[in-house]
Amino acid sequence: MKSVLSGRKIVLGISGGIAAYKATYIVRLLVKAGAVVKVIMTPSARDFVTPLTLSTLSKNPVLSHFTNEEDENDLWNNHVELGLWADLLLIAPATANTMSKMVNGAIDNLLLATYCSAKCPVYFAPAMDLDMYKHPSTQANFEKLTSYGNIMIPAGDGELASGLSGKGRLAEPHEIIEFIEQDIQSKLPLSGKACLITAGPTYEAIDPVRFIGNHSSGKMGASIAIELANQGAQVQLIMGPSAVSTEHHLINRVDVKTAQQMYDAVHKIVHEVDVAIFSAAVSDYRPLNPVDQKIKKKSETLSIELVKNPDILASVGVMKNKPFLVGFALETENEMEHAFAKAEKKQTDLLVLNSMRDKGAGFGVDTNKITIIDKDKNIFRFETKLKTEVAKDIVNEIIKRIL
Ligand code: C5P
Repeated sequence: MKSVLSGRKIVLGISGGIAAYKATYIVRLLVKAGAVVKVIMTPSARDFVTPLTLSTLSKNPVLSHFTNEEDENDLWNNHVELGLWADLLLIAPATANTMSKMVNGAIDNLLLATYCSAKCPVYFAPAMDLDMYKHPSTQANFEKLTSYGNIMIPAGDGELASGLSGKGRLAEPHEIIEFIEQDIQSKLPLSGKACLITAGPTYEAIDPVRFIGNHSSGKMGASIAIELANQGAQVQLIMGPSAVSTEHHLINRVDVKTAQQMYDAVHKIVHEVDVAIFSAAVSDYRPLNPVDQKIKKKSETLSIELVKNPDILASVGVMKNKPFLVGFALETENEMEHAFAKAEKKQTDLLVLNSMRDKGAGFGVDTNKITIIDKDKNIFRFETKLKTEVAKDIVNEIIKRIL
């Protein structure tokens, strides 16, 4: 299961309290979640936990000073660069002292300088003894820090290093990670939105071993499903036979074979979703009477009578309170003309056209070239790109129109 922290560049700032030892676990969990972690320690944090432990776990050098005095060349550690590099700054543990300096803009170490230069979201997880925690100045600092836009990860209640018991324990490392993941998740543009997407081919049985199908790999639809989930949507993916992986904690995948099964799965949920995307290459016809036993090779010719499948997209297009509707058109000739007719007939809000004549577009390949037609017949043309990038363009166009 992919974390929202995967690929994020995180600066972990550690200030000097006994809870600093827990920062080693925080680094472990961040790295495990796929984040790139750089650690900055205040000079006093080094009394509690060694930079060697943290550099080993983070796989990056640990910084504490403005100049790198352990380096012969005495290099300047650029706090501005670090502040700009980070997608996220986490200060854990945040001591009362470090927080009071953050409040006042005091900059007497590299962590505080980085904090003041950072443009990214800043999370801080306080840790201190219960009386320090309760002190009005500490409480006022919590308020001031949050009023500056920093996000506080509340301390826990329980046994403290002093032997006393009360509020002030650093939140547990896994709680810190979960808190940040949920916070990021809740701020994504599609958070709280439900999306339905069909993808892949359908297989229509001729007999127990043969079927009518097509070359759709499901890659384009899978990429869109993943992008929707990356943007925070709850995704219901209805997938025809496809080997493509769509692992994501926000994707619920239902595998189907036939157009009728896809139709049924869509109509079970379509009235509950905000957006419905129909990227599946659905077989327009199916054998009228699939036979129970394998058809034997006898006559020179063989006719199979076909009957029309339901048009799933069109059936949603005529719904009264329909979701924002996105259809696909894969054409081989008169592309624009067919696409406009399809958008009208199926009543789509967006129609994504790809032409089999375009190089790098269509089935099986990792790239695609699309043109999007909106409800007002505006045309948006895109370059040939990886399907993962095309998915971003499509989801972007949806976000622009539904938010
Ligand atoms: O009419 P045509 O099959 O070209 O339309 C393509 C669009 O309609 C795609 O979005 C496809 O997923 C959808 N479709 C459908 N059910 C069908 C046939 C197509 O949802 N039976």
